[in-house]
Amino acid sequence: MNLKSDLSKILIIDFGSQFTQLIARRVRELGVYSEIINHKKINLKLDKEQINGIILSGGPLNVYQSKKVKFNKEIFKWNKPILGICFGHQVISKELGGKVKQAKNREFGLAKLKRLNKSELTNNFFNKSGINNVWMSHADEVTKLAKGFKVVAKTNTSKFSIIENRTKNFYGIQFHPEVSHTEKGKIIIKNFIFSICKMKRNWTSKNQKQLLNQELKKKIGKSKVICALSGGVDSSVVTKLIHNAIGKQLICIFVNTGLLRKNEELQVVKTFKKKFKINLIYVDAKKLFLNKLKNIKDPEKKRKIIGNLFIKIFEKYANKIKNVKFLAQGTLYPDLIESKSVTGSQTSKIKSHHNVGGLPKKMKLKLVEPLRLLFKDEVRKLGLELKLSKDIVLRHPFPGPGLAIRIPGEITENKINILKDADSIFINSLREHKLYDKIWQAYAALLPVKTVGVMGDNRTYEYMCLLRAITSEDGMTADFFSFSKDFMQLVSNKIVNNIKGINRVVYDVTSKPPSTIELE
Ligand code: XMP
Repeated sequence: MNLKSDLSKILIIDFGSQFTQLIARRVRELGVYSEIINHKKINLKLDKEQINGIILSGGPLNVYQSKKVKFNKEIFKWNKPILGICFGHQVISKELGGKVKQAKNREFGLAKLKRLNKSELTNNFFNKSGINNVWMSHADEVTKLAKGFKVVAKTNTSKFSIIENRTKNFYGIQFHPEVSHTEKGKIIIKNFIFSICKMKRNWTSKNQKQLLNQELKKKIGKSKVICALSGGVDSSVVTKLIHNAIGKQLICIFVNTGLLRKNEELQVVKTFKKKFKINLIYVDAKKLFLNKLKNIKDPEKKRKIIGNLFIKIFEKYANKIKNVKFLAQGTLYPDLIESKSVTGSQTSKIKSHHNVGGLPKKMKLKLVEPLRLLFKDEVRKLGLELKLSKDIVLRHPFPGPGLAIRIPGEITENKINILKDADSIFINSLREHKLYDKIWQAYAALLPVKTVGVMGDNRTYEYMCLLRAITSEDGMTADFFSFSKDFMQLVSNKIVNNIKGINRVVYDVTSKPPSTIELE
């Protein structure tokens, strides 16, 4: 069975919006299969029988840029429900005889949407007041409706914020229902998919696993693939997914930098080599990393050294494997969006992130990135479907440079060992008190300050340990987690009593921004 062509779907036509994948994700969340297609590539080969409805995305263009907005206008004759979002809404109006102009008052950010008429699209969407907060991002607007359309809702500055042609089942909305800032936006997508397009739920993590498996088999064939396995969620899911598809053709390289969480390297070997019997090359590079980091205090220098050494070691081992054609990476969709700025302009560099992303260009390998269209929570669900343990799949994110960026200043073996123990006490306490899953990321850091304390009758002069625990949706913004006094006291006591080298524990209560999640 070819899963992809056997599934009925929502076709999403992409006009270049940064939110197109978010629309697809919302559709998947509702348990429905969707496919994204570039607006220039709508062709007659598409199996129309399988398409239950069409969504036209937003986009940075102007509807009158005829060369750039080329698409097959036959879609309006396919007799399928169509929902246009933002630019898509303007496309529908313009193509069917309405007018679009530069808006007198552009709308960016939150706007108050007012209900004017009932519509199947807005069933259960509006608040009792008939007003919802919605998120806008547009400079053009529809100024005249196409024939057969009527208005459903407006804002103070735009007359046609939701429109519909009930006979044809065409709908246009000027705001973005797919972003979380639009109040109850998901209800609009739900109404479109289930009430208007009459879709049945057909999409699960199991389907996703099967589809990715088919695609990987087809793409890789009999070739060999190498993968830098770190033990984190993304590289673990990629490894298991590819191993399921091609077995021994996959070779994983695990570099123990010595900067991992306590016993992490043992867990990686136990899970992937012993349990799943995956071809795993274990490289013990603890000493190398420690030597290179000697006397280095500057955060950016540390990051560069770790990133470069990692690549060098990876290349050395990868080069020994013959006939490799592909490099597998755990790139997720947010990694792709973050690497481009929303407006296309240069974004300012806060930290030079290290992950496998910048790996061996010289090796001329083709990339396999099976998670590139997914979001973190989807990857976690997929991981559970692949029978990876909850310990791995639900683990907090961990940065590429590891503990090095949680020891501000110079790094020594002694400091790393102290930190591993403190971090493990903190994390185990979170698990014991059922707090771990409520927190997006938590860790201990070792500050390069010694302070005076008293233990027994003796004066101590030891390091300070900083604890950080944050809530977040995606790591882009974050707030500190509020612990009870009892819990903080318990953790602080455990750390100071059990770890030689720490006599004071502090809790970081800054949000991001202005701070970042990591210290360096
Ligand atoms: P910051 O400190 O920038 O961290 O607020 C945001 C999220 O990114 C993680 N992080 C990294 N992840 N390579 C990674 O793969 C890196 O170099 C890196 N630096 C930070 C951090 O742990 C947090 O989850």
